[in-house]
Amino acid sequence: MSLSRPDLSVVRLRPAVAADAAIMMRWDKAPHVVACLTDDPDHHEAADWDEELAAQSDVFSYFIAEVDGRPIGAMLDIDPAGEPNGYWGEIEPNLRALDIWIGEADALNRGHGTQMMTLALDACFARPLVEAVVIDPLNSNAQAHRFYQRLGFRPEGRRVFNGTDDCLVHRLTRADWAARRAGA
Ligand SMILES: CC(C)(COP(=O)(O)OP(=O)(O)OC[C@H]1O[C@@H](n2cnc3c(N)ncnc32)[C@H](O)[C@@H]1OP(=O)(O)O)[C@@H](O)C(=O)NCCC(=O)NCCS
Repeated sequence: MSLSRPDLSVVRLRPAVAADAAIMMRWDKAPHVVACLTDDPDHHEAADWDEELAAQSDVFSYFIAEVDGRPIGAMLDIDPAGEPNGYWGEIEPNLRALDIWIGEADALNRGHGTQMMTLALDACFARPLVEAVVIDPLNSNAQAHRFYQRLGFRPEGRRVFNGTDDCLVHRLTRADWAARRAGA
């Protein structure tokens, strides 16, 4: 039996740039990433990373996580009420929505995801108007639910996105994050 051990490496988040398109494309093909994107991989549409990265703005931006200068994964930070594709539908203002994926399989289960989310949540709540952060893991992604709930997110309910993706929306309030940080 092998147990995952905490890794003391420091994770850094930096804005994603056009040159990251190739690595984002490669990570999209990793089986553990495909499994978090869709329950139906045969009918999943691949992202156009050149287009995605060129379209970034304050309502929609990607970050790359690096450990010792090596890119290991990515995050997406969205204003769900202002996002131009209307992915989140009717939703109140003053929220951020996050997504996270570690692309390099050998970087999983080392605490890097916890560090990435902690950095991103601190950045979200550094915006004074942000009241809560929402996330939309697939309902089938029990490992991600455990990961998010350990950070203080609470499940809110199932919701189908894009007509096909059965998700379990979670929310973390400013008060819950502040309490967690104060106790950390
Ligand atoms: C979800 C995801 C981001 C978590 O990242 P991670 O770096 O593997 O997560 P962590 O290492 O912080 O925690 C995962 C496990 O490692 C353990 N762990 C090891 N070292 C740890 C540390 N230093 N601190 C916290 N947990 C640690 C945790 O206890 C946890 O165990 P559990 O899942 O059995 O409860 C990652 O699994 C991933 O990218 N998955 C594929 C994409 C995905 O599902 N994204 C979510 C889409 S909504």
